[in-house]
Amino acid sequence: MSQRTKDILSKMTLDEKVYQLVQVTTATYLTGENKIDVITGPNSTLKLDRELVYEVGTSLNLVGAETMIEAQTNYLNNSKKKLPLILMQDVIHGHRTLYPVNLGVSASFDRDLARDLAQMAAKEASLDGISVTFAPMVDLVRDPRWGRVMESSGEDPYLGGEMAKATVEGYQGDMGKYNIAACVKHFAAYGAAEAGRDYNTVDVSERNLREYYLPAYKRAVDAGVKMLMTAFNIVDGVPCVGNKHLVKEILRDEWGFDGVVISDYSAFDELATHGVSENQKECAYLAMEAGCDIEMMSGCYAGYLKELIQEGKISEEQLDKSVLRILNLKEELGVLDNPFRSVNPEEAKRVQLSKEHRALARRGAEECAVLLKNDNVLPFSKDVGSVAVIGPLGNTGEIHGSWKCGGKAEETISVVEGVKGILGDKVKYAQGCQIEYNSTDESLIDEACELAKNSDIVILCLGEHQEYTGEGNCRADITLPEVQYKLLDRVLEVNKNVAVALFSGRPLAISRLHETAPAILDMWMPGTEGGNACANLLFGNAIPSGKITMTFPRTLGQCPIYYNHYTTGRPKLEEDDYNRVRFTSSYLDIPNSPLYPFGYGLSYTTFEYSDLKLSGDTMKSGETLVASAKIKNTGKYKAKEAVQFYIRDVKGSCVRPVKELKGFEKIELDPGEEKTVSFEITEEMLKYWTREMKFEAEKGEFHVFIGKDSTCKPFATFQLI
Ligand code: GLC
Repeated sequence: MSQRTKDILSKMTLDEKVYQLVQVTTATYLTGENKIDVITGPNSTLKLDRELVYEVGTSLNLVGAETMIEAQTNYLNNSKKKLPLILMQDVIHGHRTLYPVNLGVSASFDRDLARDLAQMAAKEASLDGISVTFAPMVDLVRDPRWGRVMESSGEDPYLGGEMAKATVEGYQGDMGKYNIAACVKHFAAYGAAEAGRDYNTVDVSERNLREYYLPAYKRAVDAGVKMLMTAFNIVDGVPCVGNKHLVKEILRDEWGFDGVVISDYSAFDELATHGVSENQKECAYLAMEAGCDIEMMSGCYAGYLKELIQEGKISEEQLDKSVLRILNLKEELGVLDNPFRSVNPEEAKRVQLSKEHRALARRGAEECAVLLKNDNVLPFSKDVGSVAVIGPLGNTGEIHGSWKCGGKAEETISVVEGVKGILGDKVKYAQGCQIEYNSTDESLIDEACELAKNSDIVILCLGEHQEYTGEGNCRADITLPEVQYKLLDRVLEVNKNVAVALFSGRPLAISRLHETAPAILDMWMPGTEGGNACANLLFGNAIPSGKITMTFPRTLGQCPIYYNHYTTGRPKLEEDDYNRVRFTSSYLDIPNSPLYPFGYGLSYTTFEYSDLKLSGDTMKSGETLVASAKIKNTGKYKAKEAVQFYIRDVKGSCVRPVKELKGFEKIELDPGEEKTVSFEITEEMLKYWTREMKFEAEKGEFHVFIGKDSTCKPFATFQLI
């Protein structure tokens, strides 16, 4: 807290303080036909005062430098206090140049890439006048039915934390001109919604919350994130925005976070819908008591906070703390000196979608893609005579991902365009079928088969539409539509040189695709350069190196399914995976193993792991050990490999996961090249929430693993003594 902001606070009226805590859409401050009235329309529920609306502290949702200048100018012209707005926006996987959805970015297992992509997004956004992004989303996920797994970093707390840290660093940098403040979300455990249904009940134990769901938020807080957004869901029966244990006791008191806490959209009002509040006045009370500073798009603070203070139910000191957090964020962003900060329409036009930014987005899409299967089909030769691109996702820019911010389909490279960029007019396209998940239209299959029959190779672009993922877009069925399988089967009848380019925002239940397609390359939703990246990967200009960070189930019936599970008292032995062993934790109709495990991904080359070593077999408190392995490129392509390091705590005062990711390193090897990769084992990484709910390491036996995915076997043991 600076003296300057304290001085500003001392001169503010109670009304002005309250309105600093209000957030409305930026369009409220436009003057032209895009203006949203302050009282009618979507703002009508906010109970805003026509004058005080020009004392509102922050706004959200607007893309474009000129419109931001218009809004800020109009706001300041009408404001008495003239404390500039700060514009916040969901810059989730890019601003104008989109890169892969975040589930894809995590699959890169590349911290530097994640940081570089966020930094690029921050520069593009800052030039459009955006000061804060509502990202990174770090909710741990285990249920692919949930539409928002696309913006997560998957099922592992450590990987999620590493991606959170790198992304915060990328956005915020040194908080300079081309940086923006990050807002980690959604606190907490939003990804644990039952049945993968958005906004649904979350019911996790305190231990589970702390072991699995909280670490990535904590990593973002420790990385210096400026803001945090509470989640829509309940934790232990209380909605997050009004959850004092979560926000005040854990986030503020235990973790020492003194940044700005913002609610999610209209979540204040939803306290009443959840049934823990009588009315908006009580909503305001609960949220302020929990420690929530900004109310996004609902009218509880504007309508009742002043009254609560005048009644003595909320102290003005509490209000002052919130106002100061917001003023300090504005000061740190520099808007108190320059309300327009970095906005620059001319520079924005030069930088956004520039060659450099497209190149980075393309590299990102190449590094995030995961080769799921390859029966010696890929990479295709560039000497082919003719290429058929077939499928509803082959000739569209709607593969950029669903949190598109300022991204546009018409600026996105389709697969056809990407392949034409390599093979010119050797490429022909047929749609083959519709993309709708419920389409049964087979009328386009014959034409597609005719093209396939007369082509040397086929690129079959299947999957789900990008709008089947994202907020509110959950699916009870995550298989491919029957008509897509019919198209695949018919194409395979006439051409065996087929590779499926899969576009998905989530793990899909694609066992049947795995059984029939000769090759499968999961592109996720790859962003603005998706088609070019896909073509580069399929024709060997780039080599796949991504590895999945969320388990792909054989069938939805296995979900939730994740690698870092407990053994149970009756585990089914791995060697029995395909056998029926009745009185074990298993199914009578399918194996326990997933279709593709966490950390899995193929390459065009092969890697040999050897000389796995541990520097000792005992470790005292405060000491360290080193686990290492040699990795050799035993194939013919220069390629990257995400080497993974896991630990298993064999016995604890509480059950412990069968293994936990504790390190990863992505290396690049020439054919024949060998490198040693080492991971340091510290006592800190052995700590967990014990039966007494203490975060500590317990003495005993630990197994260590180094491998290419989460199915790797232990190679050594050590005792913590
Ligand atoms: C949405 C989302 C949140 C987003 C916010 C602002 O409801 O839950 O992730 O940042 O509203 O768009």
